[in-house]
Amino acid sequence: MPMTLTDQVRSALGRVIDPEIRKPIDELDMIGSVSVTDAGAATIGVKLTIVGCPAADTIERDVREAAAAVAGVTDVVVDVTVMTREERTALTEKLRGGRSRELQFGPDSLTRIYAITSGKGGVGKSTVTANLAVALAARGLSVGIVDADVFGFSIPGILGLDGARPTKVGEMILPPIGYGVKVISIGMFVPSTGSGQTASKAVSWRGPMLHRTIQQFLTDVYFGDLDVLLLDLPPGTGDVAISLGQLLPQAEVIVVTTPQPAAAEVAERSGVVARQTGQKVIGVIENMAGLVQADGSVLELFGTGGGAEVASRLSADQEQPVPMLASIPLSVGLREGGDAGVPIVLSQPADAASVAIAAVAEQLATRGRGLAGRKLGLRVS
Ligand SMILES: Nc1ncnc2c1ncn2[C@@H]1O[C@H](COP(=O)(O)OP(=O)(O)O)[C@@H](O)[C@H]1O
Ligand SMILES: [Mg+2]
Repeated sequence: MPMTLTDQVRSALGRVIDPEIRKPIDELDMIGSVSVTDAGAATIGVKLTIVGCPAADTIERDVREAAAAVAGVTDVVVDVTVMTREERTALTEKLRGGRSRELQFGPDSLTRIYAITSGKGGVGKSTVTANLAVALAARGLSVGIVDADVFGFSIPGILGLDGARPTKVGEMILPPIGYGVKVISIGMFVPSTGSGQTASKAVSWRGPMLHRTIQQFLTDVYFGDLDVLLLDLPPGTGDVAISLGQLLPQAEVIVVTTPQPAAAEVAERSGVVARQTGQKVIGVIENMAGLVQADGSVLELFGTGGGAEVASRLSADQEQPVPMLASIPLSVGLREGGDAGVPIVLSQPADAASVAIAAVAEQLATRGRGLAGRKLGLRVS
């Protein structure tokens, strides 16, 4: 039996994606009634999740286009309404897949979680985290970042999300998306200074408040089914690192350090503390290594050997040595891209820093997802 025009329109609407939730709107129960007259005039009810939904225009346009593309449809009227509270609750429960709020990244989650840490600030953690995330997303992976540097958040700026605000659907928070990466940051909740330098408005909370915020990021923020979650940590081994260690013991840790040998001991400590919470250190990234200059000479601003030194210290007493994943050179483009909110891995993929970061993405992407390599508590007797 041939499909009726109404069925054809319904089926075409199945391809419309909610740009924030990143799922087809019919799966989200956002399509209400659909009717098409014999003359081809379609009337489509669309139920937005919330009033003032920032994606409203996009959804309405995509619905209109999808319906208009069906042969025989001559006119499209989109009737936009908003979900009732009950419908919204049903949706958030559906998105959680029946799991309780606490378990978005619980022990059964297949998402690989990498905590990017360092002994001190200014070594390029956030820059590396953001570019790595974009490189992973460009490979087709579903990627999120939790900017856990509550005191000096900088991920939104690096990913061109200055001023971006998450949408709230009931209890659920939809993270803004930059270059395909879902991002949540405390910077999205504090009032903007208008200068783009929101980081200067760093919050000054202590332990319990920090813990609750991080916990909320991991429970109420809807990341969907991520392949990779990157955590950008504040420098050092303070309250945030300890909270994350407790909340996400399965997170694997990557230590970022500069080539400066004197910094090695401080960087090593961040790895050692992560281990104390049960997290595994999987590698070291050396950043700000030698800059090749126009005349071919190499400017080693921060000396050499720091990355290898940290890797070797963290390998002591371990079953498997901790590898150095990359040595990322100093790069003017990397810094400028961060300031401009345009990640260099996309804008200048041939830059030596981009190449080094892409190589880390390659290593992480090919580790795959799932429980492989994780301690399952099974024992062969
Ligand atoms: N490889 C690099 N070459 C040049 N500048 C860099 C490099 N890595 C980071 N930067 C710059 O150094 C500064 C500190 O980097 P950031 O990522 O904020 O460090 P952290 O998060 O560790 O505090 C930023 O201005 C950033 O653009
Ligand atoms: Mg930072």
